[in-house]
Amino acid sequence: MCGIVGYVGPRGSEAVLLGGLGRLEYRGYDSAGIAVISDSLESRKRSGKLQQLRDELVANPIHDGHTGIGHTRWATHGAPNDVNAHPHIADGGKLALIHNGIIENFSELKAELLNVGVEFTSETDSEVAAHLVARAYRQTGNLTEALRAVVQRLDGAFTLLVVHEDEPDVVVGARRNSPLVIGLGEGENFLGSDVAAFVEFTRNALAIGQDQIVTITRDTVSVIDFDGNPVEPEPFEVTWDASAATKGGWPSFMAKEISEEPQAVADTIRGRIKGETVHIDGFDAKTLADIDRIIILGCGTAAYSGLVGKYAIEQWARIPVDVELSHEFRYREPVLGEHTLVVSVSQSGETMDTLMAVKYAREMGARTLSICNTQGATIPRESDDVIYTHAGPEVAVASTKAFVAQVTALYLLGLAIGQANGKVDAATLATVVRDLEATPTLIETVLLQADRIKTMAKWMADTQAILLLGRHVGFPIALEGALKLKELAYIHAEGFAAGELKHGPIALIEPGQVVFVIVPSPRDPNSLHPKVVSNIQEIRARGARVIAIAEQGDAAVLPFADEVIPIPLASPFIEPILAVVPLHLFSMELATAKGLDVDQPRNLAKSVTVE
Ligand code: AGP
Repeated sequence: MCGIVGYVGPRGSEAVLLGGLGRLEYRGYDSAGIAVISDSLESRKRSGKLQQLRDELVANPIHDGHTGIGHTRWATHGAPNDVNAHPHIADGGKLALIHNGIIENFSELKAELLNVGVEFTSETDSEVAAHLVARAYRQTGNLTEALRAVVQRLDGAFTLLVVHEDEPDVVVGARRNSPLVIGLGEGENFLGSDVAAFVEFTRNALAIGQDQIVTITRDTVSVIDFDGNPVEPEPFEVTWDASAATKGGWPSFMAKEISEEPQAVADTIRGRIKGETVHIDGFDAKTLADIDRIIILGCGTAAYSGLVGKYAIEQWARIPVDVELSHEFRYREPVLGEHTLVVSVSQSGETMDTLMAVKYAREMGARTLSICNTQGATIPRESDDVIYTHAGPEVAVASTKAFVAQVTALYLLGLAIGQANGKVDAATLATVVRDLEATPTLIETVLLQADRIKTMAKWMADTQAILLLGRHVGFPIALEGALKLKELAYIHAEGFAAGELKHGPIALIEPGQVVFVIVPSPRDPNSLHPKVVSNIQEIRARGARVIAIAEQGDAAVLPFADEVIPIPLASPFIEPILAVVPLHLFSMELATAKGLDVDQPRNLAKSVTVE
């Protein structure tokens, strides 16, 4: 989950690399570094966030050039310090290499190099690759061929970029199970771990496939596979511009992205609802009608959107839906049928746990569908079909707008299947379609409470533990809210199914314990509302401090809650999309009140591209 940039062209490469790294910093920020070729190769790297590298370059400038590579790191092997930062240098200072991923057989390769007298300066697996490429370069005299010789020996996941002083107008990259895309300019070309690396300069991109090597110069791009055979990369156009990847005046990316949740839902729906029916490109009615089971895969927030989708898809399509954590799925030898649809949910489309689960499902013969927010990402390219969410670039590490877009996409899928297999009647379909189209406006209404929620968070800045209760589709929202509180405010937070309370968790309730309760509508056809109100009474009786997220005008809750955050009236499946917004806002404000970095929380990265 590191950020990677490569450049060859007429511009000063230092500024291009730093600009790209700035937009990629959310991918990892334990350290940062660049290598630039002018008359010779020079490199600077520093632990900490990108600003530390910028400060270093001011204090200790390099001669700028027109070829270079840059890297922001999320540490896997070796502490996040200056020495372990990338780029890694070899061949007497003439070669620089950067790496995203994990080289699983690095120990044996390192032992081989130590035996022939290679000296290492870092603890990283990446430096092993640098020395291997340097040694291969002395054999081949060609950087592309040197990298190709080395990648044959590497196990694990990697994106590698390498430059050499003796080939000053070339950047060579290779990828396996780790992201790399090409940006095509006029007299200049770019490489990046995602399009944010170069979107400032071009929106024309090429996707690089598994086990492929790309060589860029100012005017040429060539791609070969690991056997040396030429490959035609897949072109695509980036649909958002660089401004979308900037804060646009907001205090943080997270604040900006929460404010974009209405648009994320609207844009994900756009073009997929015609009249009162749902149409998803690339899916024919028979394929959808034949699906007899769905398994939804994801991690973290993506898994929780899958849990919300499960309730809705089973309701409308009347087929069984299981939600699995990606990293558990493939290790339990799941039973997959020929009409099982495996749906992966991933904002980045690069989560290694999910990617490996998707590859496993395909090997087992299942049809695979990716719900993804990143064009040209690896998981959609490894899937049979894709439904892109259109939430725009999500930079803050904690996922917000992507979550509501993922739920929306899963709803559209459930409706499309229900339409195709005849299980959802026209009246229900029309109602849900109208509700979905009204959802962005309803989210806007919830966002009007941002200031009140900010005040509430400030009062609670010293809270050390928060519990969250939800039922039916409110349960995954409780889980999502708990995750946000963990990753942003660094406090213990736990989401429970409200019905589970009496089976143990109620022992956690003591005077002053803060509990958020996501309350179903009093109009709820499952009549879960009175049950949840009873739960509130049970915890209030034991001293809990209850913050209820409840439908506007729900009088039954008022006597028993310390605070009520009202959400607009909406149908049962729209309410979770509305109820999550106050939890996103509260988590952000609580972290802010505690003086924490809401965009780049400690220890985290935006895309976990290692298993
Ligand atoms: C969400 O706030 C977290 N950052 C994390 O749980 C994330 O949802 C998870 O790593 C999955 O990422 P993906 O959607 O890019 O696959």
